[in-house]
Amino acid sequence: MNTFKKAERLQQLPPYLFKEIDRKKAEVMARGVDIIDLGVGDPDLPTPPNIIKALKKAADDPANHQYPSYSGMNDFKEAVAKWYQQRFWVKLDPATEVVSLIGSKEGLAHFPLAFIDPGDVALIPTPAYPVYNTATIFAGGRSHFMPLLKENAFLPDLDAIPGEVAATAKLMFLNYPNNPTSAVADPDFFKQVVEFAHKHRILVCHDAAYTEMAFDGYHAPSFLEVDGAKEVGLEFHSLSKTYNMTGWRIGFAVGNHEGIDGLGAIKSNIDSGVFQAVQMAGIEAIQGDQSCVQDMIRVYTGRRDLMVQGLRDAGFQLDPPKATFYLWVETPDGYTSAQFAGRLLEEAGLVVTPGNGFGDPGEGYFRIALTQKRERLSEAAERLKAIKL
Ligand SMILES: Cc1ncc(COP(=O)(O)O)c(C=O)c1O
Repeated sequence: MNTFKKAERLQQLPPYLFKEIDRKKAEVMARGVDIIDLGVGDPDLPTPPNIIKALKKAADDPANHQYPSYSGMNDFKEAVAKWYQQRFWVKLDPATEVVSLIGSKEGLAHFPLAFIDPGDVALIPTPAYPVYNTATIFAGGRSHFMPLLKENAFLPDLDAIPGEVAATAKLMFLNYPNNPTSAVADPDFFKQVVEFAHKHRILVCHDAAYTEMAFDGYHAPSFLEVDGAKEVGLEFHSLSKTYNMTGWRIGFAVGNHEGIDGLGAIKSNIDSGVFQAVQMAGIEAIQGDQSCVQDMIRVYTGRRDLMVQGLRDAGFQLDPPKATFYLWVETPDGYTSAQFAGRLLEEAGLVVTPGNGFGDPGEGYFRIALTQKRERLSEAAERLKAIKL
């Protein structure tokens, strides 16, 4: 019996669906099998040296050792505004429309606390990065799920949202380029979202963590590029994937000033900002030499092509994604996501993520993260081919 009863909000979290695969992974590892982990979306590449150098220099300066400002250093916020202007042609006021984050997950997780009262509805895509739903639950809100289906190119069908839900919803979460489906959204879709959000007075939170990880010359748009978007929306960005900085914990939110203000009010009561030396490294990342981004794109393009070919040779059908380092693959007939992920682990020592772990419509899919070196991906492809489907 537990002595200390945990809060209701923890009881309300959806079941952890990766438990079984985690257990199997530990079991297979204990047998000494050479496991290739394609499960985790954490870049294996190092942070570019110019960014590390900027951190070291800033860490040596005692001026950076005290509490930072809650919302971010002016220099960091100005660098973000400049990057937005250069990259997306979107104008931002650094003082009121930018806030630094301790990674975009932190901002996404805290945002509903600023706008969701108990019982309020948030529109959440599914399958999705789980934080949108759990953050809504933590704020006492209710999630109305918007299925992302293959027949709709993994975009939510806004017309399928019941009128009474749209009328009461406070927030909508979106994420393009998308984790886990790797789908992309064009500005026309964002235009529809902006109209919908204006009509129903909904604040849109666009998670743009993967905009820079795009291939074959594709440039992912910003939600804020659409006319009127800033009146109804914010965008959450991360330096984690673009600059291989997952461990550094730095990101930012930009856009609607009421949204930024609300998030800032929550954050100022919970955290004390991002270590200034990390913000200075962040400035170097977004304003310094961008050839590292091209290098990153080249590496993942090669890995994507290798793995897509490997999967096709093994009998799977899929198109190369335009963005993200994920492949979203249909399981063979007769297998659930969990069953097939289990078989890959047992027979081939491959860890993939079962699609249903991201939400019910992910059933029938598994996700591969291209976060292993080419040789390991070639080995994974060989092992896949050896499996009799
Ligand atoms: C869709 C999506 N959003 C946000 C994040 C969080 O990124 P970070 O907190 O490192 O900025 C991730 C990380 O995997 C992600 O996949």
